[in-house]
Amino acid sequence: MLEVCNVSKDYGPFHAVRDLSFTAAAGEIVGFLGPNGAGKTTTMRLITGYLPPTRGEVKVDGLVVRTNALEAKRRIGYLPEVPPVYPELTVNEYLNFCARLRRVPSRQRQDAVARACQRTALNDVRHRVIGHLSKGFRQRVGIAQAILHEPQLLVLDEPTAGLDPRQILETRQLIRELAGQHTVIISTHILSEAAATCERVVIINRGALVAVDSPENLTHRLKSTDTIELQVRGPQPAITALLGAIEGVLKAEFSHLRQEVGTWQLEVANAGVREEVARRIVGSGWGLLELRPIDLSLEEIFLSLTANQPEGQVEAPPPAADAEKGVQL
Ligand SMILES: Nc1ncnc2c1ncn2[C@@H]1O[C@H](COP(=O)(O)OP(=O)(O)OP(=O)(O)O)[C@@H](O)[C@H]1O
Ligand SMILES: [Mg+2]
Repeated sequence: MLEVCNVSKDYGPFHAVRDLSFTAAAGEIVGFLGPNGAGKTTTMRLITGYLPPTRGEVKVDGLVVRTNALEAKRRIGYLPEVPPVYPELTVNEYLNFCARLRRVPSRQRQDAVARACQRTALNDVRHRVIGHLSKGFRQRVGIAQAILHEPQLLVLDEPTAGLDPRQILETRQLIRELAGQHTVIISTHILSEAAATCERVVIINRGALVAVDSPENLTHRLKSTDTIELQVRGPQPAITALLGAIEGVLKAEFSHLRQEVGTWQLEVANAGVREEVARRIVGSGWGLLELRPIDLSLEEIFLSLTANQPEGQVEAPPPAADAEKGVQL
């Protein structure tokens, strides 16, 4: 559905995006992760045709965005970093206006607006002025304008930025519902956000691709052993000794004691060791209160993947003869 092929974007001498390639299949939710300034917004502008790439191509549904801009844009809904809403219009007026811009035929416009409001839970505020709405509702209006024309690809730039926890959960739920009917690309620098919503994450740093994978595979790629946390009521030295003697336990470390319950962290060779640990603790007559695997958080994955990247901006090389076809900023 989406193909980003060796795309680069230079702002003058500065490489904002460098030779980036990834794809998104129909109905997939892909998280686009990177720290501030990594090039997420720039890449989204390249995907949506708002900026031409300096090198490379973006294809949406097989159409090259640069050369088939109008046709490609019909297939794309875009929520920019700052939702493009007019504060003095009501939700209804604004969405009707967007539907006209999107060339939704006049007979279908009311239905399209009603459907978008339904899907983004905006029905109760349809007649309110956008400037009087909370940030979360304004964000939903931004998502509603992006889905009005039923695009195949939805590009959402930090859709939950600045929302309160309840609105974040609601927006994530909405995004999950939209996937399936749409391919969704969401950018974020909050890694748990991607883990909560996305099947696959594309990690970029300083404009370059760092990794593309599912959150689970990224964890396994970086870690050959499993870590488990254990809470047991019983004598600490004896428990530590027993844990250390179990085959497959590579390391058993006592962490802390709280209300007579000790916590241990174990490094184990494989997940199967967990069963034996549980059996031995219970068999010794101690109280096993908790035994859970600890995954690497996406924060740790991200820090580990970007640890060796050099600091500072990267100067662009002199333009190649065939490269500078796009508009320069
Ligand atoms: N129009 C522009 N002219 C020059 N440099 C730009 C321009 N737009 C972005 N940049 C630079 O390109 C780099 C990538 O910016 P971009 O906005 O794509 O990052 P981002 O990943 O979206 O960051 P954030 O998480 O803060 O939104 C930054 O160093 C930024 O300063
Ligand atoms: Mg951005």
